[in-house]
Amino acid sequence: MTNNQFPEGFLWGGAVAANQVEGAYLEDGKGLSTSDVLPPAPARFKLLFHGKGEIPQIEEGTYYPSHEGIDFYHRYKEDIALLAEMGFKVFRTSIAWSRIFPSGDDEHPNEAGLKFYDDVIDELLKYGIQPLITMSHFDMPLALLENYGGWRNRKLIALYERYARTLFKRYGDRVKYWITFNEINMLAHIPFISGGIVIAEGENKAQAVYQSAHHQFVASALAVKAARELMPEAMVGCMVAGEAIYPFTSKPEDSIEAMEHARITQLFTDVMVKGEYPYYTENFFRKKNVELVTEAEDAVLLRDHTVDFISFSYYTSTAVSSDPDHPDKASGNLFGGVVNPYLQSSDWGWQIDPLGLRCALHQMYERYGKPLFIVENGLGASDTLEPGDIVNDDYRIDYLNRHLIEARRAIEEGVELIGYTSWGCIDLISASTGEMKKRYGYIYVDRDNEGGGTLRRIRKKSFHWYKEVIATNGASL
Ligand code: BG6
Repeated sequence: MTNNQFPEGFLWGGAVAANQVEGAYLEDGKGLSTSDVLPPAPARFKLLFHGKGEIPQIEEGTYYPSHEGIDFYHRYKEDIALLAEMGFKVFRTSIAWSRIFPSGDDEHPNEAGLKFYDDVIDELLKYGIQPLITMSHFDMPLALLENYGGWRNRKLIALYERYARTLFKRYGDRVKYWITFNEINMLAHIPFISGGIVIAEGENKAQAVYQSAHHQFVASALAVKAARELMPEAMVGCMVAGEAIYPFTSKPEDSIEAMEHARITQLFTDVMVKGEYPYYTENFFRKKNVELVTEAEDAVLLRDHTVDFISFSYYTSTAVSSDPDHPDKASGNLFGGVVNPYLQSSDWGWQIDPLGLRCALHQMYERYGKPLFIVENGLGASDTLEPGDIVNDDYRIDYLNRHLIEARRAIEEGVELIGYTSWGCIDLISASTGEMKKRYGYIYVDRDNEGGGTLRRIRKKSFHWYKEVIATNGASL
């Protein structure tokens, strides 16, 4: 690292997910996916967390912004050209499982779906942009939920392995970086969107969550195994929602509570990175009345097929209090926690904490010693398009700049960070609220919550800022 620059070859870029940008939700043989049936907020909230006890259906008369998304399905060439103009080295997107296997268990893959991602990948490579592919990002064929009960059913392991092998055979010659599941630890918080799990009234949610997580762990290990066989040069990573965790006060009880909070995510990373459940698992499960059903070969699969890198999202930190009646619960933050009085919040109530990113990087590197990749970070804000096609998003530049400075410090301090893809590099549909208004992009998309607008793409002020960051390899920060 010289002159405040990031390491040579650092992977600068941005990230999106299929169900939040593509639209074309039933085109070219695509099957319905779990994300297609989620209405925008407020109806969305209950479903995200609990699935409302039944499988949601598309409701007539409700507008679903994600069904058209930002029409990336038809406009990817224009979008990728803009990413290339910023100098992207990597672009993270996901493949919609329901485009490849519309029902999840179809005998043959859908050629039109495979062809679409061929075209996207080739378009990226044309500009020298490396694709980083998430195989499952908050959506899965709805039929897997209707016919199997989602990830709580062990049969999904084999179906996912077949899906993974299909992708590796088709794209393995062109895609080096893969992620098996987006924010896998979010299963513990939003099981429907994460694992297609509908929690019945009165059911022990933890049992469904951790059984499903176990199936995803084994599926991920089998994908790693397949990747080693089919694409020996590839790098396969896990992905978790990352956070820095602080005890709310110096009261020892708050520290214990913070430690226990951290363990929720560490269980996920430990299994995928170290290849085994952490030592506290038995007690952790006992307290939650969880009895895991496993098969004899699982432990060996998990041990032998761990990931090459750890990727994570980072938006906010969490302050944890041992007081169940603490009056100031943090809103908007899916991790829970209480309001940290030292931090400011975004318009959606997510607390902004660049130093927390540095903490998170160190905590993960110290625990695992594996290359890290920040694959999501950014500020969801409501932007104003001013006359003359101007979007002055100084608040976003400030947020990103401060986080990147902390990432650079962590690298200086010894952390191995291989890349950074900010979230929603082009405006997209929000995962938690299902709306268009919450924007993260360097590129403004002329679309509103009701489906109005031309879908025109407009460079924001942050577009030019990020271009400079990439061109100087971070020295301009
Ligand atoms: C992450 C998800 O949790 O946060 C993304 O991986 C999501 O899919 C992002 O969009 C930001 O959340 P939101 O709710 O603002 O879209």
